[in-house]
Amino acid sequence: MSKAIGSKYSIESSEEAEEFYHYVKDLLDSDIVCEMKKYRHHYSTTCYQHCLNVSYYNYLVCRKLGLDAKKAARAGILHDLFLYDWRDTPRKKGDLPHGFRHPQIALENAVQNFDVSKREEDMIVKHMWPLTLKLPRYAESYVIVMTDKYAAMLELGEHFKGKLRSLARKGENALRKVS
Ligand SMILES: [Fe+2]
Ligand SMILES: [Fe+2]
Repeated sequence: MSKAIGSKYSIESSEEAEEFYHYVKDLLDSDIVCEMKKYRHHYSTTCYQHCLNVSYYNYLVCRKLGLDAKKAARAGILHDLFLYDWRDTPRKKGDLPHGFRHPQIALENAVQNFDVSKREEDMIVKHMWPLTLKLPRYAESYVIVMTDKYAAMLELGEHFKGKLRSLARKGENALRKVS
């Protein structure tokens, strides 16, 4: 059972996420998207979980705004499909830093494996705007710029929650030993 961080709804089985799941199920079931489970992205969150977070919130915001929620959901899943651990992958001579170049790598992987529309392409390749200098072309692309940052903040919060829980456990154990 998977959930976007901060959401109580199971993606696979809750009624609230049914439409979302229908839009992205083929992507979530694919080997290449599942490969993102191997790579850590922000703090303790995997690339897969991060993309699910971005996709889900992108879908919700775009649906609320009357934008293309299906494309928003699909581009969210694919937007960080770069498939390496950016912390320990050395940069080749002449390569831009990861933050600048990974949207293009994600797009290349996405178009090699799935049908990607022009709007989805723009969302994937511009999600790091303004780092990627070209202006987003569609309203959905501005939404993904925001939901990507929002997801990163949620992931940071989740990471510190985990750290605090483990500190509290250690404290309890230490107290038990001295009492
Ligand atoms: Fe990214
Ligand atoms: Fe991202």
